[in-house]
Amino acid sequence: MTDAARPVIWIPRRLSDATLERARRDYDVICKEDDTPGTAEEIIAMSARADGMIPCHSEHFSADVAAKLNSRLKIIANHSVGTDHCDLPALKSRGIAVTNTPGVLADATAELAFMLMLSAARHGVAGDRIVRSGDWDFWSPAFLVGKQLTGARLGIVGMGGVGRSLARKARGFDMEIHYHNRRRLDADQEAGAIYHDTLESLLAVSDFLSLNCPSTPETEGMMNAERLAQIPRGGVLVNAARGSLVDEVALVDAIETGHLAAAGLDCFREEPGGNPAFSEHENIVMMPHVGSATVRTRDAMGFKALDNLDAFFAGQEPPDML
Ligand code: DGY
Repeated sequence: MTDAARPVIWIPRRLSDATLERARRDYDVICKEDDTPGTAEEIIAMSARADGMIPCHSEHFSADVAAKLNSRLKIIANHSVGTDHCDLPALKSRGIAVTNTPGVLADATAELAFMLMLSAARHGVAGDRIVRSGDWDFWSPAFLVGKQLTGARLGIVGMGGVGRSLARKARGFDMEIHYHNRRRLDADQEAGAIYHDTLESLLAVSDFLSLNCPSTPETEGMMNAERLAQIPRGGVLVNAARGSLVDEVALVDAIETGHLAAAGLDCFREEPGGNPAFSEHENIVMMPHVGSATVRTRDAMGFKALDNLDAFFAGQEPPDML
């Protein structure tokens, strides 16, 4: 039975058990049981039944959707740090509060970026395939020779939480850290990393390049053919941020010409799905956008979204208000 005093929250995706338990304790929760992305029609329909929503990056709040939302909906408490699926000005103009989950997913995402970097550098896809398939009938000192991280230069684009966590891990591998960011970090946050005030300057020294910046109109297609060519020959590109940062045709070309030795990707322009052109190349290691997918981080993201809802419905400014 619905308690009129309790706000109604729509949760379109399967959040962690701990998140759902807490949400049900404090709110009247409507879940989309099939755990498929909420369509524009579903989002619009649910806005007439819910006071708040906890969507993921898979639910798209375009300007068109924002214009059609029912005035009952007061807050979108995203279960993501990225907000490129939300037209923020359009939602703001409708008076809808929007929050995200910064901070809590940096380590998990940096761990996945590191996994991609190691796996791309050391032929993780081919090695696994050869052993798993039973085709391993040969060994030679010239077999699956990779690229060593130790002592190599790691260029990080975007020194937010994920970039800084990746830098900490890379220091443990004795990598030389370089970065480009909108603003230079304080010396204690920089921790010896070398700042480049232009992306071009960073690319020129990046034996490994990791993209850790948000998707914005300014970063869309940032790694195009020209910029990929500025990475030293034999470089490795890692993207655990957003697919829109990379020109995927140019990346396939850079792999096929051998300019790049390898790539590690957790994000694609088409999601879900990815890019079939990448599958031709075992030196491209791929994961299906699971950078933050650990038990601890999923709980932390869900709890942060709930903290934002709790503050909002208590009449306070949510801590992660955008
Ligand atoms: C984020 O939080 O933006 C991650 O990409 C998962 O949605």
